Amino acid sequence: MAQPAALQAPVFLVVESQSAGETKAWGRRLASLLEGGELIALCGELGAGKTCFVKGLARGLRLREEEILSPSFTIIQEHSGRLPFYHIDLYRLDEVELDTLGLREYLFSEAVSAVEWFERLREGAELQRLQVEISYASASHRLIRFSAAGGRYAAIVERLRAGFL
Ligand SMILES: Nc1ncnc2c1ncn2[C@@H]1O[C@H](COP(=O)(O)OP(=O)(O)O)[C@@H](O)[C@H]1O
Ligand SMILES: [Mg+2]
Repeated sequence: MAQPAALQAPVFLVVESQSAGETKAWGRRLASLLEGGELIALCGELGAGKTCFVKGLARGLRLREEEILSPSFTIIQEHSGRLPFYHIDLYRLDEVELDTLGLREYLFSEAVSAVEWFERLREGAELQRLQVEISYASASHRLIRFSAAGGRYAAIVERLRAGFL
């Protein structure tokens, strides 16, 4: 019998990154586990490494990382690699709702969506997603915390962890 949600241990994984290259490698690893339709919610202050992680994701989806731009005047960038890929950066918005910018259609699609500054999305906490929080430890040292919010994402975090151990 399934446990009530409140009794289930939260599924998360914290890893260290010592360089931009290592952060990209985590993005590539995650990309290899995606099938389309996933929402990757990136949080962390300016310069934490969110875009760096997205470049790794893009590489893992067989895109060129040079296609990933930041920060840009474009809030939503559409790419097509192994899977359709939307890179969304909410930095320029203080707060945004799902029903603006057609966000709902991007986030609930067959594509992989990676959203930087996800915390600026008002309904964000209600959405099923793979949360990726990047924090500073020192100049080139970061902590990356992957956590599953909802259904399919726990399995993805478990597979990331299995590859890590
Ligand atoms: N371990 C690391 N992981 C990610 N970026 C790092 C790391 N160490 C240094 N950096 C540098 O930090 C910067 C991160 O920038 P960026 O990815 O654009 O951040 P954000 O999108 O979170 O604002 C890059 O210049 C990158 O080279
Ligand atoms: Mg960025």
